[in-house]
Amino acid sequence: MKEFDYTKMDLTEEAPAREPDRQYYFMAKAREYLKKESEEAGRPLTFCVTTFGCQMNARDSEKLTGILEQVGYVEEPDEEKADFVIYNTCTVRENANQRVYGRLGQLGKAKKSNPHMRIGLCGCMMQESAVVEKLKKSYRFVDLIFGTHNIYKFAELIATRMESGRMVIDIWKDTDKIVEDLPSERKYSFKSGVNIMFGCNNFCSYCIVPYVRGRERSRNPGDILKEIRHLAGDGVVEVMLLGQNVNSYGKTLDHPINFAQLLQEVEKIDGIERIRFMTSHPKDLSDELIKVMKHSSKICRHLHLPVQSGSTRILEKMNRRYTKEQYLNLVDKIKKAIPDISLTTDIIVGFPGETEEDFLDTLDVVRKVRYDSAFTFIYSKRSGTPAAAMEEQVPDKVVKERFHRLLGEVQDISSEVCGVHTYTIQKVLVEAVNDHDSSLVTGRMSNNLLVHFPGGGNLIGQFVKVKLLECRGFYYLGERV
Ligand code: 5AD
Ligand code: SF4
Repeated sequence: MKEFDYTKMDLTEEAPAREPDRQYYFMAKAREYLKKESEEAGRPLTFCVTTFGCQMNARDSEKLTGILEQVGYVEEPDEEKADFVIYNTCTVRENANQRVYGRLGQLGKAKKSNPHMRIGLCGCMMQESAVVEKLKKSYRFVDLIFGTHNIYKFAELIATRMESGRMVIDIWKDTDKIVEDLPSERKYSFKSGVNIMFGCNNFCSYCIVPYVRGRERSRNPGDILKEIRHLAGDGVVEVMLLGQNVNSYGKTLDHPINFAQLLQEVEKIDGIERIRFMTSHPKDLSDELIKVMKHSSKICRHLHLPVQSGSTRILEKMNRRYTKEQYLNLVDKIKKAIPDISLTTDIIVGFPGETEEDFLDTLDVVRKVRYDSAFTFIYSKRSGTPAAAMEEQVPDKVVKERFHRLLGEVQDISSEVCGVHTYTIQKVLVEAVNDHDSSLVTGRMSNNLLVHFPGGGNLIGQFVKVKLLECRGFYYLGERV
C-alpha cells in the first residue's frame, strides 16, 4: 500500500485518471464528507463489513475494511449498531442468497432509527441481474451496490453516494484490469491471504463462479512477491495463495510462469515460514507441483483437491475433465510422494441425473482416498449455468438421504484419519484464544488440523511445540512441550 498524506491532496482539482491515484483522491474526498457528518452526529461514525462465502471474499473484505478505515470510519463488530454496513456476498448456492435477503430485512429496520446509517452490497451475488432488479424494486433503502470487478473503486463509489444522496449502482460485466497498491486491513497480524489470480475459465456445468467472477487473470509474479515480502516485513509468517484454480496460474501472463515456479519464488522469501494455497483443480495439478511440495520445507502438508463426484459419468456431465480413475491415480501419486499429506475435498450430492450407482462411486472414492475432511454440498440449481437446464433433477428426498449417508461416511473416516497423530509432537502456529474457554489457545498444524491447549493470548502469532493428547474428530486437545 502507498503511504498517503491526505492534507497534501488538492480536492479542488479534478480526480486523476490513473489508478490507484484516483482512488486515493476519492478517499480524501470521502474523508472530508465524513468529517462533516461525524461533527453533525457528535461522534465518530462506524462501519461493519460482513463476509459471506469463500476465502477470496474474506480477502476482498480486508480491502473494503482498509478503504473504510482510510475514509475515517471506525470498526464496530455489531452490524446493527454500525453506521456503514457492507455485505460482501456469495452466490455459489441458493441458500447463500436467501441469507442475505433475510439479514437485509433486519438492517432495513435498524436504518429507520439511525439517520447516519448507510448500507452497501457487493460481491458475487450482485453480478446477477435478477438480484439487482429485486433490490431496486423491494430494497430501496440500500445505498450502494457494486460487483466483483470494480471493488477497487469502492472509495469512488462511497464519495459518489455521499455527494449524490441517491442509491448508487455500478456493476461491470467483466474486466481485464487488476489494480495494485490499494489499502487493505488484515484480520490477522501473523497470516494473510494473497490473491494470485482472479476469475475462472473452467465452466464446471453447475458453477456460477465463471459468470460472476469473470475470466481468469493472473497477477504479475513481481507484484505478488513484492506484496509477500512486504507482509513478511510486517511480521506475517504464513501466507495462503488464493485463486479459483491456482494450478492454472500464469497462463494468461505476457511472460508465462507456472504455479510450481511461483511457489519456489515465494519459498525464497525470508520470514515466511508457511505457505498454503487454495483451490487446486485436479485436471491441472502437475507432477512438477508435487515435486516442489515434496522438497519444500515451507509448503504445508495439506492439499484441498475437490473431487465433486466419484462417478466418471457425472464428472463428464459436470465438465470436470477427469475420470474417477484419473483422480484416484493422482491421489496415489501425491500420497506416494508426500506420505504425511492431509487431503481435503468438496463433494456435490444430487447433481442432475445422479443415480444410486453414481452415488456409490462417490462413496467408493471417499473410502479409497480417506480424506481428512470433506465439505459436502447438496446440489443447488444456479440459473444461467448449463446444469440448471439439465433434465432429471434428483428428487429432494433422494438427495437428502444420500447426503446423510455421505456425511456419516466422511465423518467416520475423518475421525480415524485425523486421530493417527495422537501422542505426536507438532509445531503449531497459535491463532487465537479459544472462544469457549479463555484458558486455552488454538493452534494450527501444517496439515491444517487444529489443536486447543492451555496458554495465553501472548502466544498468538508464535510457533510452539505441542503434544497431541486426544483427538476429538476434527481437532485435538494437547499440551505445550
Ligand atoms: N451446488 C452445490 N455446490 C456447489 N459448489 C459450486 N457450485 C455449486 C452448486 N451449484 C461447490 C463445489 C465447489 C464449492 C466451492 O462449492 O463443491 O468446489
Ligand atoms: Fe466453479 Fe469449477 Fe471454476 Fe471451481 S473450477 S470456480 S467449481 S467453475
